[in-house]
Amino acid sequence: MKVVFVGDVVGSVGRKALKNILPYIKKTQNPDFLIVNGENAAGGKGITPEIAKEIYDLGAHGITLGNHSWDKREIFEYIDEDKRMIRPANFPLGTPGKGYTILKNGSKELAIVNVQGRTFLPPLDCPFAKMDQIVHELPNRIKHIFVDFHAEATSEKIAMGWHLDGKVSAVVGTHTHVQTHDEQILPQGTAYVTDVGMVGSREGVLGMEREAVLRKFMTQLPVRFVSDSGKWQFHGISLELDDATGKAKKIKLLRHFEDEVRFE
Ligand SMILES: [Fe+2]
Ligand SMILES: [Fe+2]
Repeated sequence: MKVVFVGDVVGSVGRKALKNILPYIKKTQNPDFLIVNGENAAGGKGITPEIAKEIYDLGAHGITLGNHSWDKREIFEYIDEDKRMIRPANFPLGTPGKGYTILKNGSKELAIVNVQGRTFLPPLDCPFAKMDQIVHELPNRIKHIFVDFHAEATSEKIAMGWHLDGKVSAVVGTHTHVQTHDEQILPQGTAYVTDVGMVGSREGVLGMEREAVLRKFMTQLPVRFVSDSGKWQFHGISLELDDATGKAKKIKLLRHFEDEVRFE
């Protein structure tokens, strides 16, 4: 089974990048499942039902979210109806949506799970205990489990990789928007990377307009952040999983820039 996962898509530049590069990614990687983190897809904050449709129309099988899940109100009503969209599983009881789902493509099934760290982020339920619960809850027939761990601290992400080694197919980090170079297959067969990186403007700060971010750092005054309109960068990963066991056979970082010509 081949899986491609795309890191945090930021604003219209991020969506433009998807439009431009996903045909190339699909052609070269030929994934059974394409999953996209969409927590910043609407102007850098949250996602709307229209933008979710746009992402599905580009070929995504599932969408994961994160701490920006609720930034656009339209999603509250919508998320329960969308079987392919998940938000962090350790959000408080009673929040809309769900933390995991099982995607199907022909006879292939892939469970996708979204969970959020709580170091330098709001104090949610324990993500480690929540993951144990989910791995236990998933039907026995499901061998392929993909985890998007949306977290700030590299230590918490690495710890989650070790915690889930041998229990899931992949633990990949999102949220910090910078791709890390530590992709590996852990000893018990779980693919791991600390952060997949983002899709959006490479001329801003983590996809947002740099003037506003600089003003915030330099003055500490309240500043409205908007997503940047510069040239795009694309970051993702591709995974090859054993069909029978679900264990990872290969993890590869994907990284492309708008002015590259090779995919045009
Ligand atoms: Fe993000
Ligand atoms: Fe985030």
